[in-house]
Amino acid sequence: MELRPLTPGFGAEVLTPDPDPSELRRALIDHKVLLLRAPDLTPDAHMALGRSIGEIEVHAFFPNLGPGYEQVSVLDSAEGNTATMWHTDESFLPHPPIGTLTRALVLPAVGGDTLFADTAAAYRALTPAMTRYLDGLEAWHDLGRIAQLRYRFGSGDAEALAEALRAERRSRHPVARVHPETGERCIYVNPTYTTWIDGLPPEESDMILAHLQRHLTRERFVYRHRWQVGDLLIWDNRATQHMVLDDFDGHRLMHRVSVVGGATG
Ligand code: OGA
Ligand code: MN
Repeated sequence: MELRPLTPGFGAEVLTPDPDPSELRRALIDHKVLLLRAPDLTPDAHMALGRSIGEIEVHAFFPNLGPGYEQVSVLDSAEGNTATMWHTDESFLPHPPIGTLTRALVLPAVGGDTLFADTAAAYRALTPAMTRYLDGLEAWHDLGRIAQLRYRFGSGDAEALAEALRAERRSRHPVARVHPETGERCIYVNPTYTTWIDGLPPEESDMILAHLQRHLTRERFVYRHRWQVGDLLIWDNRATQHMVLDDFDGHRLMHRVSVVGGATG
């Protein structure tokens, strides 16, 4: 399979048409983000590609294409569904998706690029003092954090927040999570879902989370993707974070399929 690097550190464009699934899976683990040009991919082919990587899931809250296509979620900017804050997908689940395949259908004339951060490279660049400190720490990831942020910034209500907290969609994960397939440690906290580091006083937890996020989004760990219609990006959700730049006016519409990995999640 022919690949072209997207940055010196991670990310690769797949140049071979119709790549072999096992080679694709291997390349995903090695490069963390893969770009495929797939202008004619149908929702069925999108799901089939997802299934060649793992078991495809129904997303916890995004709308989807409906009966028979529940695993194809629709990210439509016209419906307010644009993920503009750094995150890893659904980290509030006990076994978050191992990967996501997102494809651009409609794009604004300019803007709406997606940023990816290599959380394994970021972990390796931490000071030894910091890695010793993080060793053994676990953080809580809560779907309710979105409602909390909305409430705090004036676009949510107390009832929605209470409901989100009562739903108990939360899980605890190691702050430096070991990637089950590479054995690498990756920084696994993000500002969309991570609420606090278990057992730390609030000020200390906030300070460490802010430091880790600033650190892992340094330019040297980030790839910025400027989309073309038909681009399909596949990312390893265990070793990256991503966000969409909130800098566009036009319509932006994406289809996405995410893949869970059972015991390897
Ligand atoms: C996603 C996501 C980014 C994008 O599919 O999980 O965050 O570019 N998408 O729309
Ligand atoms: Mn996402």
